[in-house]
Amino acid sequence: MEGPTSGELPIKTESDIVACRKAIRECATSAGFGVTDVTRIVTAVSELARNVYVHADHGIMRWSFHAQPGKIGIELVFQDQGQGIDNVDQAMLPGYSTAKSMGMGLPGVKRLMDEMEVTSEVGAGTTVKVRKWARA
Ligand SMILES: Nc1ncnc2c1ncn2[C@@H]1O[C@H](COP(=O)(O)OP(=O)(O)O)[C@@H](O)[C@H]1O
Ligand SMILES: [Mg+2]
Repeated sequence: MEGPTSGELPIKTESDIVACRKAIRECATSAGFGVTDVTRIVTAVSELARNVYVHADHGIMRWSFHAQPGKIGIELVFQDQGQGIDNVDQAMLPGYSTAKSMGMGLPGVKRLMDEMEVTSEVGAGTTVKVRKWARA
């Protein structure tokens, strides 16, 4: 794999969401993920970066790639200091939205990725960590 294996990008504007998608598409491709997995990962980036932008105003995305014998992995962490989520289990349900939108973002990401952890504190912020693995 060429280039950096970890990094951090700000999420403050609509164009930052595009930049996050582009960075992860390029890195996941060069790490060796197949096109279908790259599409899943980039879709997850879209949803989680948009959640930061819409629900928390701004935050960051951290990403890292992990290479093990026969296995590659990506970890993405979306972190903000926004209003937080008071019931994470409820937020994970399809159709639940406090923004009168689709409410399919978090449950969609759960389906697309292999591992997902959401931690949140009302008034302090939210951290969403997701991972995906593939055979190298
Ligand atoms: N980063 C975040 N900060 C605060 N609340 C969030 C965040 N991400 C998700 N949420 C909460 O979880 C709900 C469900 O998120 P999601 O499934 O993406 O649906 P939607 O974005 O369409 O509302 C949101 O409506 C919001 O209440
Ligand atoms: Mg959403």
